[in-house]
Amino acid sequence: MNMVASKKTERMATSIFTELADKKREAIKKGMDVIDLSVGSPDLPPPPHVVDTIVKYSKDTTKYGYTLKGIDEFNEAAAYFYKERYGIELNPEREVLQLMGSQDGLAHLATAMIDPGDYVLVPDPGYPIYEQGVMIAGGSIYPMPLLEENNFLPQLHEIPLEILHKTKMMIISYPGNPVTALANKEFFEEVVAFAKKYNILVVHDFAYSELIFDQNPQISFMSVQGAKEIGIEFNSLSKTFNMAGCRIGYAVGNEEALKILASFKSNIDYGIFYPIQMAAVSALTGDFSVLQKQVEEYEKRRDILISGLAKGGWQVANSPATMFVWAKIPSGWTSRQFAFELIEKTGVVVVPGDAFGKQGEGYVRMAIVQSPENLEKAAKGIAEFLQ
Ligand SMILES: Cc1ncc(COP(=O)(O)O)c(C=O)c1O
Repeated sequence: MNMVASKKTERMATSIFTELADKKREAIKKGMDVIDLSVGSPDLPPPPHVVDTIVKYSKDTTKYGYTLKGIDEFNEAAAYFYKERYGIELNPEREVLQLMGSQDGLAHLATAMIDPGDYVLVPDPGYPIYEQGVMIAGGSIYPMPLLEENNFLPQLHEIPLEILHKTKMMIISYPGNPVTALANKEFFEEVVAFAKKYNILVVHDFAYSELIFDQNPQISFMSVQGAKEIGIEFNSLSKTFNMAGCRIGYAVGNEEALKILASFKSNIDYGIFYPIQMAAVSALTGDFSVLQKQVEEYEKRRDILISGLAKGGWQVANSPATMFVWAKIPSGWTSRQFAFELIEKTGVVVVPGDAFGKQGEGYVRMAIVQSPENLEKAAKGIAEFLQ
């Protein structure tokens, strides 16, 4: 039988990450010393108490059944974390929804909320699942360009009225991926007013809420007055507590929107393994000093990479947050030419910016998920390559 993928699958299939993995394999085959700065999977370990909790509960053979949904302790722990870290009061029962990673929510929210003909405003460049989620739902995309000259904030007044009248949802992320910029409270207030005016659900992806550097403020969208009336915020334990493989995250905020997503999800998944949920509880209610140490580690890595590149004559903008450096490439290259040639010549793997949208052309994304020594080596290799 000739197996044919659906049109939707085909549109998503050619991931740049597959292409990069092939090129990486070729470089390894040639005996090159490969340093992979492509995928944002944390290389640091989770806190020891998190691992201990998984071990403890994994030994309890009564905990291997379906959990169906988030246990109460998890919802309470997420509400506690939001209160402690961002000063936000949440009703654990109604304003917290557990997810199998924030990806789960981002992938399914559009299908739960959007019908064909509905528009979703997405950042360009943006994290790919924003657009793919809408595509799976059969909705339409309106890309909001994130340009350096606008501090990477979308210009809401430039969105045509005829689009706004068909728009049901908008996605933003500060700090985001690949664009690591931060937003200020005034921008979030503008978004709340805009969403109320046009009746739009705002989705704020706050996956990097705990990777904010140089003592910049950590502003949750939910801290803005009126945000709960029109918005939800995704958060995750993946980057904050290095639990990416555990697949656990959550959404907070507007209870009606969360109810719709929960109802959709109840048809397709049966909850997260109990020991993982308990591990998340121990992370969210545990010792927060680990978070500051982690910030310092990433700041150090960022500084090593950026100063190493500068030594080689490539001035790259400072990253105020996240585990990425969003770097404007020297003129004369396309993003793909630059990334592919860089692997071939140096073994350093970075992601071409156009993988995240049209406006990503001219940039590459580097994930600082390598040791300081490796980042120094990578910067040196890139600097030599450019010379
Ligand atoms: C901006 C952003 N949002 C969401 C996710 C998904 O994270 P998870 O599903 O592990 O919570 C990622 C992962 O890299 C991300 O970069």
